[in-house]
Amino acid sequence: MRGMTIKKIMFTEEELGGIVSELADKINSDLCGAESLTVLCVLKGAVMFTADLVRRLNVPDIRIEFIRASSYGKSDVSSGEVSVGDATGDIRGRDVLVVEDIIDTGRTLNSLKERLLNMRPKSLRFCGLFDKPSRRIADFKADYVGAVIPDEFIVGYGLDYAECYRHLPYVAVIELNS
Ligand code: PRP
Repeated sequence: MRGMTIKKIMFTEEELGGIVSELADKINSDLCGAESLTVLCVLKGAVMFTADLVRRLNVPDIRIEFIRASSYGKSDVSSGEVSVGDATGDIRGRDVLVVEDIIDTGRTLNSLKERLLNMRPKSLRFCGLFDKPSRRIADFKADYVGAVIPDEFIVGYGLDYAECYRHLPYVAVIELNS
């Protein structure tokens, strides 16, 4: 693993809280009147975001489920191969909100969408905390995006570099040392 240096903070803990609140407001207004919802957290990067988002949602019966998806492995570039595990829980006939930390090439959510639609949910929505549209390869558009960001390598608030730095409460731009 190459060493890295933190170049700058992109989002402070407080700013992240504001972004998550705004997303929750939009989702709450779209789901107004819904009795139940399955929130599907895409592991591992979306764990912190999911935990904060669900605590701001107003739907009375929320189930939290998890799915493993990985496109990077331990490398710092996308392998182009997406591995998607089996979703936990039965989503047939349920309103589903998929929660992802970052949308980059779009391959992960594109594969996941196909897989989930085959499971016949009542509705399927996608929420990404960060979106890098300049990196898109697969045709994918999320229903909710917290912030559109430039193509920089970020860590923290769930996002990793070689499995490290997910625990940081802020999001930072890093530079890999040569
Ligand atoms: C990252 C991120 C998304 C995916 C986005 O996951 O969390 O799931 O890549 O990239 P894409 O739009 O190019 O498919 P990663 O494979 O690093 O797994 P992790 O969440 O466990 O870190």
